[in-house]
Parts: sequence; structure tokens; C-alpha cells
Amino acid sequence: MLKTERLILRRWEDSDAESLYKYAKDPDVGPIAGWPPHKNVEESRDVIRNVFSGKEAYAICLKEENEAIGAIELKLNGHTDMTDRDDECEMGYWIGKPFWGQGLMPEAVKEMLRHAFEDCGMQKVWIGYYEGNTKSKRVQEKCGFKYQWRSEDVDVPLMHEKRTGHVSLMTKEDWQAMQSRQREENSAPAKDMAVEQDLQLTMPAEYSIKQVTIDDYDAIYELWTSTEQSRRALNPVDDSREGIERYLKRNPNTCFAAVKDGRIIGVILTGHDGRRAIVHHLCVHPDYRRMGIAGHLVALAEDALKREGIQKIFGLVFKDNGPANAFWEQQGYSIRTNLNYRNKSLNEDIPTGE
Ligand SMILES: CC(C)(COP(=O)(O)OP(=O)(O)OC[C@H]1O[C@@H](n2cnc3c(N)ncnc32)[C@H](O)[C@@H]1OP(=O)(O)O)[C@@H](O)C(=O)NCCC(=O)NCCS
Repeated sequence: MLKTERLILRRWEDSDAESLYKYAKDPDVGPIAGWPPHKNVEESRDVIRNVFSGKEAYAICLKEENEAIGAIELKLNGHTDMTDRDDECEMGYWIGKPFWGQGLMPEAVKEMLRHAFEDCGMQKVWIGYYEGNTKSKRVQEKCGFKYQWRSEDVDVPLMHEKRTGHVSLMTKEDWQAMQSRQREENSAPAKDMAVEQDLQLTMPAEYSIKQVTIDDYDAIYELWTSTEQSRRALNPVDDSREGIERYLKRNPNTCFAAVKDGRIIGVILTGHDGRRAIVHHLCVHPDYRRMGIAGHLVALAEDALKREGIQKIFGLVFKDNGPANAFWEQQGYSIRTNLNYRNKSLNEDIPTGE
């Protein structure tokens, strides 16, 4: 038995014949998926015994009631024409009309994908819909299946006709990548509105301060690349738009920019792992240095980090960057002489040691 937030997916039983008939007799349900409406309870019982008897065929039931309201199946090798491999299968599904539009089908499909990849050892799950079945198409897109191809004149044997079919695929790698994206999104902290309010109270007259968002990417990237000391600390992966977007998603409250006449003239990114914080890419435009802007940005970041329960912060500074070392010294950031900074690249685009 499989469970989701609202559903139970369990084996079919003879006693489901009545409820199966109730939903499968609807002419809006079966034909669009390639099978005729059921004509009576006996036919539904027959389908339960002979069609829904596959090893991975499940009745979809609402958690509170045990009534079968739809069907979902992984059609294994030998029972599908989409693959001839044991580690691939085809997913098929439908749900009764009264349950359309509530997100129940995607909920069941996502759990079946998990089951296919985690429990059944599948590497690929294929899925199809016939031309015109926009609801099914939408479910497949929503669940992350990638469109593969269309086939003309596909036989629909139970309906005695030919149709255009559309085939999509979910690979295990795509599914795993989707899971980790999901985990990342779920763990991203929410934006703290109190930080925004505090900023308004501490705003100096000469420039304003804002929290950095991904919309500022082009402006802050330009600032970093316009200064040699910042430019050399950039790398193409971490500091790409995608890299900074990921960073800001995880650290929405601890990155600040100074703005003058609508232009970003200073920036600081700080983020933490729940215990320690790191400062990245502090930079102030050359025309606005020695005005206390960097000091102000550091103070704001430190306050924001303290609010998140962080007790300690560190940063990396090139040894030959005299002004920056003087700045950090003045800010109270001491040098650890008893440590070696060791690092290893996990991506061949970023050489170790850079
Ligand atoms: C380092 C940097 C961010 C400092 O910005 P800033 O806005 O000028 O710094 P502040 O005005 O807040 O400076 C505060 C104090 O730091 C010290 N300081 C800052 N710049 C200094 C410099 N060039 N030489 C000596 N001391 C300096 C001073 O004590 C200064 O106080 P003071 O002006 O009253 O003497 C800026 O020089 C910069 O953007 N450099 C290029 C990028 C870079 O190297 N970033 C650091 C990466 S780790």
C-alpha cells in the first residue's frame, strides 16, 4: 500500500466493482484514455480480475474513505509497448470525474514515480496521452515528465480506431534532480520583513540600502567586474546568475546593497549553514570608498546574521589585497594563523586552489 497526503493507493479487490462502475461508466473518462465506458458492474468486476491484476496496479482511494475513485499502474515489461526492458515501465492512470481539478492525480503520479524509482528499481518511466487529452498532458507536465515525441496513427484497440499519441519520459536522474530542487526550495528560509523595516530606520542621507534580490544580479555583477580585487575572486559557476539565485534563495535576509541615484554602489553577500556565516564579495564602487559604506554593509549583515542565531562569521581575503585587509582589521576580523585554508573542487570547471 502506498500513501500520499490525501490518498491511499492499494490493490484492487472484487468488492471495488460497484465504485469502479460508478466512475468508469462516465463517457468523459474512459474514451479519452482509450477504453470504452463500463456497461455494468459485472464488466467492472471482470476488469478488476483481468486488467487491474498487474503486479503494480493500484486503486486510488481517498484517505478517509476506502472507495476506489481511480486507477494507477506501472505497466511492466511485457505489458507495455513503450519498452522491452525490465528496468523501464509505462505509467497509466485515470480518476473519476467528481475528483478532477483538485490536484489528486498529480499527487498519485508523484508517489508512483517515487515507488517506481525507489522501490521497484526503475531507471525510466514512460507515459503517454492521446491528442486532445489536455488534462492528462497537464498532469504529465506538472509532474516533470519530459516530452519525447508524437506518433501518428497509433492503434487504440479497445476503441477500434487510430489516434495521434504523445509520449513523455521521466528518467531516474531527472527525478532525483527534481527531488533535490524540491528539498532546497522547502528548506529555503522565508524573507524577513522586519529586516526591511529596520533598514528604513537606519538609512543614511547620502545613499539608500536595499536587500539584494536576483533582479540586482546584472548591477552587482557589473560592480564586481569593474574592480580587479573583486573580479579575481569570481568564478563562473558560483557567481553565475543561477549560482547567485541559489545563494539568495538560501540567504534572503543577509545580503545588502547600497544604492545612489538608482545605481548600486556597494554590495555584501553573507550566508550561513546554520552555525557559521561567510562573507562573500564585499565591494564598494571606487568613487564612493572611504565614506563608511562597506562598514555600514558589514554592520547590517552582522545584525541580520545575529537575528538568525549566528555567533561567528569569517571571510577570505587575498593576502596581497592591502586595502581590504586594512578594512577587515578595522572591522575586528582577526587572522587565524594556526589554520590552513584547504579546499577541493567538486566541479571540473572550478579548479581546486582558485
Ligand atoms: C575594501 C572595501 C570594500 C572597503 O570599502 P569602503 O566603503 O571604502 O570602506 P569604509 O569606508 O567602510 O572603510 C572603513 C575603514 O576601513 C579601513 N579602510 C578602508 N579602506 C582602506 C584603505 N584603502 N586603506 C587603509 N584602510 C582602509 C579604514 O580604517 C576605514 O576607515 P577610515 O576611512 O575612517 O579610515 C573597498 O576598498 C573595495 O571595494 N575594495 C575592492 C573590493 C575588495 O577588495 N573587496 C574585499 C574583498 S575581501
